[in-house]
Amino acid sequence: MSNENDSPAGLLQPEALTRAVKEATSAIEGASTPAELAAAKSACLGDKAPVSLARRAIGSLPGPERGEAGRNVNAARAEITAVFEARRAALEAEEAARILREETVDVTARTPRRRVGARHPISVQMDRIADLFVAMGYEIGEGPEVELEWFNFDALNIHPDHPARTMMDTFHLAGGDGGGGSGMVLRTHTSTVQIHTMLRREPPIYTVAPGRVYRTDELDATHSPVFHQTEGLVVDRGITMADLKGTLDHFAKSVFGPDAVTRLRPSYFPFTEPSAEVDVWFSAHKDGARWIEWGGCGMVNPRVLRACGIDPEVYSGFAFGMGVERALMLRHGITDMRDMTDGDVRFPAGLRVEE
Ligand code: FA5
Ligand code: MG
Repeated sequence: MSNENDSPAGLLQPEALTRAVKEATSAIEGASTPAELAAAKSACLGDKAPVSLARRAIGSLPGPERGEAGRNVNAARAEITAVFEARRAALEAEEAARILREETVDVTARTPRRRVGARHPISVQMDRIADLFVAMGYEIGEGPEVELEWFNFDALNIHPDHPARTMMDTFHLAGGDGGGGSGMVLRTHTSTVQIHTMLRREPPIYTVAPGRVYRTDELDATHSPVFHQTEGLVVDRGITMADLKGTLDHFAKSVFGPDAVTRLRPSYFPFTEPSAEVDVWFSAHKDGARWIEWGGCGMVNPRVLRACGIDPEVYSGFAFGMGVERALMLRHGITDMRDMTDGDVRFPAGLRVEE
């Protein structure tokens, strides 16, 4: 711009303003990035832009000419501003389109599936056992882990002076009375659920209750102070020991495989009469084939039925309580129960526990 119109007054000539608009338009429209657009804006609308200089030159015109000159400058400026706004909107739209294009997420894309965790084998085992019995028409029974002594012992025919109270080493809760003169304990077995169930329901009763129990046992290869049992309880007319044996055989085959062999060994529990311990033949034991104790069972003691308001002249029943960890050890040849509770995530990897 080196002609006579560059003089302040010359900038106000209509041709000069038209040229300023034309040059500004091509500079603004040539900007292809926000930075280029900002530079064009400052060149075409900033302090040193022709239209700005022209505006400042208005003051040097004779009074009567100022009005028209002002309108011309404002019109030119408005035109350039409109071109600028249009270009800015276009660049913003382009930018939005680019982001949409480049950051599109393909929700149908396939990615390799990575398993980041697994359920604990004990949980899987307890669910499988529950499923097995539910398939036979049993209901799932429940009871609290923090329990009244009355449910853990008295109602199960284990009175305070009964030697069996000391057979199970019990965690007693400080503070004593849980109501009705009964102290509180961490339940030592799932047999407490037998009582909750019989108090809640009328026979016929077919219940299975998997759950966690606590004893002051030392942690060693075959014992844990926190372990799991699965309780079974059936109360109906005409239930016999043969029903118990048939149910346990079915249970054992499902847990240990079709060749599983069980035996009932006469034993004693205050809440069953007669009572037995259930052994499983463990042919794969590392020290040679042998019988392993899996749990206890028996015919529900008539005294327990009566304590729960069930007439033993009409109904009879059986109950069993099996160790879940012991079953897993037998089934998978695990030689140390501590492997199951250590929380080493590699542990389940070696197990073929179907989910
Ligand atoms: C009972 O707990 C009885 N309530 C079972 C019962 C139920 C008998 C219904 C009659 C009728 P016992 O104390 O034997 O019985 O425990 C049952 C099973 O729990 C054991 O055979 C064993 O498999 C498992 N078990 C016992 N103590 C531990 C322990 N410290 N760690 C892991 N498993 C254990
Ligand atoms: Mg036992």
